[in-house]
Amino acid sequence: MATTLPSEPQVLSPFETVAELERTYLVQNYSRYPLLLHRGKGCYVYDLEGNRYLDLISGIGVNSLGYAHPRITKVIRQQAGLLLHTSNLYYHEYQGRLAERLAKISGLNRSFFCNSGAEAMEGALKMIRAHGNAISPEKNGIVSLENSFHGRTLGALSITGQPKYRKDFEPLVPGARFVPRNDIAALESAVNGNTAGIVLEFIQGEGGVLPISEEFARAARALADRHNCLLVFDEIQCGVGRPGAYFAYQLLDPVLLPDIVLAAKPMACGIPLGVIVGNEKAAAAIKPGMHGSTYGGGPLACRVALEFFDILDDLLPSINAVGQYFRMRLTDLMRTFSFIREVRGPGLMIGVEIAFPGKQLVLDGIKEGLLFNCTHDTVLRFLPPYILTERDVDRAIAILARLFKNARPPE
Ligand SMILES: Cc1ncc(COP(=O)(O)O)c(C=O)c1O
Repeated sequence: MATTLPSEPQVLSPFETVAELERTYLVQNYSRYPLLLHRGKGCYVYDLEGNRYLDLISGIGVNSLGYAHPRITKVIRQQAGLLLHTSNLYYHEYQGRLAERLAKISGLNRSFFCNSGAEAMEGALKMIRAHGNAISPEKNGIVSLENSFHGRTLGALSITGQPKYRKDFEPLVPGARFVPRNDIAALESAVNGNTAGIVLEFIQGEGGVLPISEEFARAARALADRHNCLLVFDEIQCGVGRPGAYFAYQLLDPVLLPDIVLAAKPMACGIPLGVIVGNEKAAAAIKPGMHGSTYGGGPLACRVALEFFDILDDLLPSINAVGQYFRMRLTDLMRTFSFIREVRGPGLMIGVEIAFPGKQLVLDGIKEGLLFNCTHDTVLRFLPPYILTERDVDRAIAILARLFKNARPPE
């Protein structure tokens, strides 16, 4: 008679152990790539086994100075030994200085600090509401763009122009209208005396790295002035150095100022920090006690952001030059790979539109030591750290050429 041997206890790899814990205990909202990150240095991250990956997505545009930047590491260490949190009951040394810095680079005078992009968007929506309500109870309409992305909170979702993000959470905040990007006639017919705000993602990031045209931005400014509503540029993904300027709206000549610009991701190099930067008119909508944030603008985040801005001043030329080189090398690949439809985006915000879904390329990239992602199904998105060099680009292009050569577009 056959005897059954006791089964070997199953030994899980470190990766499987982590994945199993997450499967068991986390809300199942994320579908992660099969990669367990352990540490980073410069533009590279390493997994637990020490395998190295060139990171061209940098935590979705957050790790602006890469990993373990010596100056950022130093101020984080120093500040951790001094003061991490004060709340906004008290002053600390860095919030006012950071607001002054933002005023100088943005042309807008007043900042409100928070912890994320969505939180900045929520605050801006409250400013829009309060601005409209102060004029008339009917003035509460908000116009934004189809295909936009403004965050996952209910308010931000309400003006996000993609039904897939909204559909499970309706009813949302009322009053939103969506117009197609760059359709000036549609914008003109959507904005009226009851509009309190126009919210534009200056370059749609999640939507596929799609900028708004200069004519459209200027038409929005003119309409906001005519109807006394607030013009908000969401530069949470496309701003703060990424486009090769402090803000993407500064790429226009002459510069066009919004009433509010929103920023977050790259500003504190991985420490959560978001900001609403507004002019006096926008800021006047918020009176004492009307808005707040316990963690927002704490000493650690603000001090790191000040250090980041000191470094960014000198990095802007390189963001432009390396970005241009990257786009040129990607455009060269179009001659060999006809499925590449377009290479677009300013500075180090680059989208490569291809003729088929890009998810498999992203997975193959991980195996080859290259991290990027794919948005809107067919747009490979690159948001690398600002310290990227031409040498890094050469390495990335060599890997991408290999991935493209082996790509199996669906028939
Ligand atoms: C343009 C834009 N707005 C808002 C957000 C939301 O930011 P967060 O994820 O920090 O809440 C994002 C995030 O990707 C974004 O790209």
